Parts: sequence; structure tokens; C-alpha cells
Amino acid sequence: MDHLVSPSLLAADFGKLESEIQMINRSDADWLHLDIMDGVFVPNISFGFPVIKAIKKIAAKPLDVHLMIIDPDRYLRRFCDAGSNNLTVQYEACTHLHRTVTEIRNLGMKAGVSLNPHTPVFLLKNILPYIDIVLIMTVNPGFGGQLFIKESYNKITELRKMIDTAGYNVLIEVDGGIDTSNAGKLIESGVNVLVAGSSVFSSADPEGTIRRLKKLI
Ligand code: DX5
Ligand code: ZN
Repeated sequence: MDHLVSPSLLAADFGKLESEIQMINRSDADWLHLDIMDGVFVPNISFGFPVIKAIKKIAAKPLDVHLMIIDPDRYLRRFCDAGSNNLTVQYEACTHLHRTVTEIRNLGMKAGVSLNPHTPVFLLKNILPYIDIVLIMTVNPGFGGQLFIKESYNKITELRKMIDTAGYNVLIEVDGGIDTSNAGKLIESGVNVLVAGSSVFSSADPEGTIRRLKKLI
């Protein structure tokens, strides 16, 4: 399978969101990554339902929604109604993860589980049959523009082995500090989906950067 690219809107110019989303629509991007932060699970606050609904009206690509919030169960239906196609929760924020991902799937969305950099991939062993995406955080969540954590390669290799050995249909997504310099090695390590914020939106040619992230191999 060809890998996917999911630009993270967090790094966009929020003063001209409409033209930023239209740029994504024209580009080779596969999904549009939206980061939801509650100021509790992570030390930052981003945006919520009214903004997601407004984005949904303009976006032509599926919305890849990444929840960095505590107690996500309270809001699963509302994220669905706002237009989320993929809904990813943080492993560390869920006490009853199986219930959470089952509910996400029952609502008709792809279910994702994200791991903080310190959370080992072996903890996913018994949830992999019930999910569609594993999102490996390659920085500590909360902010764009941080440095990629190199230990992530080992986690990806280990997870790739777990998924392939069991024959699960689960995508590996990476998020944080991704650019054209590390994307190739990430794909070789077994990644299926690249999230990229700053490297896309801060570049002189965002559409060209998305194209380069897409055509790596
Ligand atoms: C970080 C978010 C990321 C962020 C990535 O908490 O989950 O999606 O936007 O930004 P960059 O690509 O700039 O590291
Ligand atoms: Zn994210």
C-alpha cells in the first residue's frame, strides 16, 4: 500500500483557515489532521466543535481527528457529528480503552489509539484486533514544531512486527517533527501515514512539500 500524508492544521495560519484548507484540497494530501487539546491532558488548548464543523464544510479530505484530551468518552458522538472520519484517542487518557474504540467504530469512524513517546508498544497487544490506526507520537504531544524523538524508530519496527505477525489490518501513523529528511526512513521502518504540521505550513511551497512527502518512495 502507498503511504498516506495527513497535514496537521495546527501549524496553519488560523487567520486564513479557508485558503489553507483549500490548499490542502488541491494538494496530494490524503487526510487532514486536526489536533484537539484540552489544556489538561496536554499543556495547550487548540480548538473545538464549532471550528471542526466549519472546517468540515470546506475540507475535501477525510478529517483525521487526534484527541489529546482526558475522558474522551464524553465527546465521541459530538466529534462524529462534527464530521470526524478517523477518531484517535490517547492510550494514557483511557481507562476502558476497549469500550472507547468499540464505540468509535460503532459510530462509523475509524478508531485510532495514540501512544506518548514513553508508552511502550507491547501495551497494544490486546487492543490491536479492535482498532484501525496506531498513532505513534514522535514528540511529546501539545505543540507543533518540536524535534523528532529518534527512539521512535525502534517502536515502529516493533509495532510493524506485531501487526504483521498477527495479520491485523492496522495502519501505523506517526506525528511530530516529521519532514522530508526523516519521512523516507519512517516509511522504510513500516509507517503507513505521515502527519506533518510545521514542515508543510512553514515551507515556502506547502503544496510542493506535501507532494515530496507523498512521493518519497
Ligand atoms: C502535537 C500534535 C501534532 C502537531 C505536529 O501535539 O499532535 O499533530 O501538529 O506538528 P509538527 O509537525 O510541527 O511537529
Ligand atoms: Zn496530532
